[in-house]
Amino acid sequence: MKKFQKERFLHLPTPLEYLPTLSKDLGISLYIKRDDLTNLGGGGNKLRKLEYFLYDAKAKGATALVTVGGAQTNHGRLTAAVAAKYGMKCTIVAIDEYPGEVSANILLDRIMGADLVLHKDDGTPLMDLVGRVMRKYENAGEIPYFIPMGGSNQLGALGYYDCAKELLEQTKDGRVFVAVGSMGTYMGLYCGLCNSSIRLTGILIGPFYEDVKSYTLDYFNQCKDSWELDISAGPAGFDIRTEFIRGGYNNPVREVREAVYEMARKEAILLDPCYTGKVYAAIRDMVATGDIKQGEKIIFLHTGGLPGINTPSHRCEMEKELIAGITIE
Ligand SMILES: Cc1ncc(COP(=O)(O)O)c(C=O)c1O
Repeated sequence: MKKFQKERFLHLPTPLEYLPTLSKDLGISLYIKRDDLTNLGGGGNKLRKLEYFLYDAKAKGATALVTVGGAQTNHGRLTAAVAAKYGMKCTIVAIDEYPGEVSANILLDRIMGADLVLHKDDGTPLMDLVGRVMRKYENAGEIPYFIPMGGSNQLGALGYYDCAKELLEQTKDGRVFVAVGSMGTYMGLYCGLCNSSIRLTGILIGPFYEDVKSYTLDYFNQCKDSWELDISAGPAGFDIRTEFIRGGYNNPVREVREAVYEMARKEAILLDPCYTGKVYAAIRDMVATGDIKQGEKIIFLHTGGLPGINTPSHRCEMEKELIAGITIE
């Protein structure tokens, strides 16, 4: 494999923990890999990708990071964190509505000093908006560096190729479950695990913008070519489940909140309602249907995202369910 450089700002490896209570309840052997505990800006999966982007940005003399996502993007927050740590400017560009309050990831973006451009959907292409921000930086004498949606290109996926190798140092078997958004995390893991005895199942958390199967194959080939990977496994092993979207991206869903409560009440681990809550809800469903076998070893990759719990749409639904336990005297 070709050698790529990264800026090492993470304290790795992240822990792989056994979850005794939920293992017993579900009749499986459940482990969790704590990528939510990565050490900058509240943590999460995008930091592994950002180690590669930051090295490249610094090599190009960049003084500002520009990225895209939804208003509440976790990737944007972690880009803001890395920019803050390295003394760079940062702008997150989103085609999205202002959610009516400065909370959740938006609050953290601003606390860390990043700017946010929220542009109502009026047909303007996202990359035109990015172009405007890039030019504004250039006119101010800055050198901006663009990071794609979710950090999911060949460079970003390397972060999860590394995570796969890290996991193989911690365990040799099992079946990994991970959320699939822009797919970089899944693809990096896939390339790193496909020649091992560890299986990988991705849970798509929202409708995909292209045909999932052909996109996955294209992305795999791009990574394989640009990394000069010598792997024999191919797309036959792709396992991305599309049946757990539960109505849409980042939508409040009762079963997902129940999964979040269960993990918190039985293992004191906090999940988010957009990504990791959906994955754990899918694991529960797949145990019920037998898709996950009794006694099977499951490794749930916790990719972070907790700030999302404070977005008004999720918080309001949880308030309705949780207010009953508050005695106001
Ligand atoms: C908390 C969290 N988990 C999982 C993902 C999915 O990662 P990817 O976009 O690499 O598929 C994201 C993406 O934004 C995320 O924020």
